[in-house]
Amino acid sequence: MKMRDWVKLEQQYFMDTGHRRLGVTVVRGAGAKVWDEMGREYLDFIAGWAACSLGHSHPVILKALTEQGEHLILASNDVYTIPQIELAELLTSVSGLDKVFLCNSGAEANEGAVKLARKYGKRHLDGAYGVISTLRAFHGRTLAMVAATGKPEYQASFTPLPEGFSHVPYDDAEALRAAVSDKTCAVLLEPIQGEGGVHVPGDRYLKDVRQLCDERGLLLILDEVQTGCGRTGTLWGHEQSGIKPDIMTVGKGLGGGVPIAAILVRDRAACFGPGDHGSTFGGNALCCAVATAVLRHILEEDLSGNAAAVGSYFSERLLALQEKWTIAKAVRGRGLLLAMEFSEPIALQVVKACRALGLLMNPLPPHTIRFMPPLIIGREEVDQAVAILDAALEQVVGLP
Ligand SMILES: Cc1ncc(COP(=O)(O)O)c(C=O)c1O
Repeated sequence: MKMRDWVKLEQQYFMDTGHRRLGVTVVRGAGAKVWDEMGREYLDFIAGWAACSLGHSHPVILKALTEQGEHLILASNDVYTIPQIELAELLTSVSGLDKVFLCNSGAEANEGAVKLARKYGKRHLDGAYGVISTLRAFHGRTLAMVAATGKPEYQASFTPLPEGFSHVPYDDAEALRAAVSDKTCAVLLEPIQGEGGVHVPGDRYLKDVRQLCDERGLLLILDEVQTGCGRTGTLWGHEQSGIKPDIMTVGKGLGGGVPIAAILVRDRAACFGPGDHGSTFGGNALCCAVATAVLRHILEEDLSGNAAAVGSYFSERLLALQEKWTIAKAVRGRGLLLAMEFSEPIALQVVKACRALGLLMNPLPPHTIRFMPPLIIGREEVDQAVAILDAALEQVVGLP
């Protein structure tokens, strides 16, 4: 069979939003590995941008897909469907929150969370509608989430943006306090900033933000789309700071690769009523059954614990590389959400050199690379990845 030129076809038919910076056409995956159309094998430390929490084509996911697919894929939200209710029950029990809305992507979950906060503001905060988020944050690509995202480069082409969003520096509770006004209804934060470069705040930050929200009657929305579902070493990123949000959004790793996301909320803020919000595919039976199976597997196999243990080993190995390579300026992160920052703009070159040597990872150009492997990986895969990164640095930089 003649091999089609996928790169050329992609360039012909796609709007150029993706960059496809790694230049690989992936055709198959299993566990922490993927293969390209030529049969070349790669260790996948991108894992669907942290969505493939169990790795590729995990048997638990295949079983849920097959069994649920044979019964029901989608009904409509005019009727009750059991997988949806089961997932809602599981999500509330493991989050300590009370109510759920199911949707399809992280951006959509955040968008819904902001709608919820605005309705709460109308009802309980004298019409306050403002949402304060943080500089360098990432909350998704819908128009309102571009406004919430604290990156001017993602905003400039799309003005005018929806009103009501402002930004303060991350990890600075005093700046946040100063920005609150009587128009503010909510604060929207990532427990660790992911796309912004993997920035872990100081120990007190989330506690101080929680206290501020309590004092001023504001809703605290935590965007756990990237940090949730075990990624940072506990089921939810915020657990490590001992606080609870009023609203939490989750996505990515929840579905293990299928598109599903959720808004979780405390009873007192669960003010959506009939007709306020909806989604044709949100809460479809197929993705709900998969998400329930994925979440149960994460809990039963303690994959959060694995992310903590393997993540701390990985972090030590990266710190050792940092000692060796003076161009490596910082290693940051927690669990299996880690990054290395360079003092020179070499992120893309390093990622491309790693790809040629059999490791896929995510560039945050110009200076940073991010690691988000599946939560199932062990030390052996970490050793392989670190050896490849070391060799790639030698290619890109020369001698240490
Ligand atoms: C913290 C955070 N929120 C929201 C999103 C957007 O999620 P999605 O791409 O599923 O819309 C992302 C995606 O990277 C994210 O990292």
